[in-house]
Amino acid sequence: MKDKLEKLERRITEDIAKSTTADDLEKLRIGYIGRKGELTAVLKNIKEVSPDERPYVGRKANELKSLIEAKIKEGPAQPKGACKKKTLDVTLPGSHYETGALHPITGTINEICRIFRGLGYRIAEGPEIETEYHNFTALNIPEDHPSREDFHTFFLDLPAERTKKTGRPGRMLLRSQTSTVQIRAMEAIKPPLQIIAPGKVFRPDATDASHSFMFHQVEGLIVDKGIRFSDLKGTLDLFCKKMFGADTKTRFRPHFFPFTEPSAEVDVSCMMCKGAGCRVCGRKGWLEILGAGMVNPKVFEAVGYDPDEWTGFAFGMGVERIAMLKWGITDIRVFFDNDVRFLGQFA
Ligand code: PHE
Repeated sequence: MKDKLEKLERRITEDIAKSTTADDLEKLRIGYIGRKGELTAVLKNIKEVSPDERPYVGRKANELKSLIEAKIKEGPAQPKGACKKKTLDVTLPGSHYETGALHPITGTINEICRIFRGLGYRIAEGPEIETEYHNFTALNIPEDHPSREDFHTFFLDLPAERTKKTGRPGRMLLRSQTSTVQIRAMEAIKPPLQIIAPGKVFRPDATDASHSFMFHQVEGLIVDKGIRFSDLKGTLDLFCKKMFGADTKTRFRPHFFPFTEPSAEVDVSCMMCKGAGCRVCGRKGWLEILGAGMVNPKVFEAVGYDPDEWTGFAFGMGVERIAMLKWGITDIRVFFDNDVRFLGQFA
C-alpha cells in the first residue's frame, strides 16, 4: 500500500506541475479528489489498510488532497504577456535603459571619413607593424633623418626571416604615421586614385596632457592628371568647414615634409573664440590641424608612377587633436582611460 501511495504521489506532483489551464485543473479534481477519484478511493477504503500502515496512509492521502485543492484554488496560470489591470501612475519615474555609444575617437574618424567619402575618396587600410621602407624610405625620408632614431620610432626586434619575408631592406617598426598607407595604396592600385586612410600610429613620447605613445591619424591621397595646389586648398577648406562649422576660415602656412613638395601646415580659425584669440588657441585665433602638400615626384618614382604624367596631393591629420578641439577637451589621456563617466557624454 505504501508503494502504491508513493507512485500516486509522484503522479500527482507531476500533474500539478503540468496543469496550467482551467481544463487541466478540472481534470485534476475529477481524477483524484472527485467522487470517483483515486485519492477519494484510498480514503474511502482506509479501513482495509493494515493497522500499522493506516496512520501513514491516512496522513499522506489527506496531504495530497490539500495540495490538489490548493492548486485548484490558485486558478489557471496567467497567459503570457497579460498584465493585471492597474491604473497607470504617470508621476512615477520611467524605466531607464543604458545605451551603448561609439567611442569619441571612432565617432570622429567616422565623421572625417564620411566627409571625404562624399568627395569620392575610398577607405584604405594598412598594417600597424610596418617596414622601415614603407614608413620612411619610400616616403623620401633620408637615412639620417632624426625620426629614424630609436627615441622617435618604436623599432621591433623581429627574427631576421620575418624582416626578409617583406622583401624590403631595413628594420621592422610600429608605424609612426599613416603616410605608409599612401605607399601601400599606390603599390597596389594604378592611378588615378583617391583614398582616405584612418588608423593607429605609435611614437615613443612620454605621456602627458598632449602626448600619447599611441594615437590616431587620418591620411588622404589623391593622384590624377592635372591635380593642382588649388585643388588641395579647395578640398581642405571644404573639409574644415564641414568638420568645424560653415563659418570656419582656413590658413595655409609654408612647411616642410620630405614626401610632399611644396608642403603646408593648415590652420583653422579657432572655433572657441571665432578668431578673436582665447586660451584654447593661445590668443592666436588660429589652430593647427593638418599637414599637407603636393606629392613629391620622388615618392611617385618609388612606387612606379610616372611623375611626368601624374600629380597629386596628400594630407594627414591627428584625430585626437581634432576631437579635443571640437569638444574642448584639454587632456588626451581621457580617451584611453576607459572611464564611462567621460565616454558616456558622447552617447
Ligand atoms: N605624415 C605627416 C605627419 O605625421 C602628415 C602629413 C601627411 C603631411 C601627408 C603631409 C602629407 O606629421
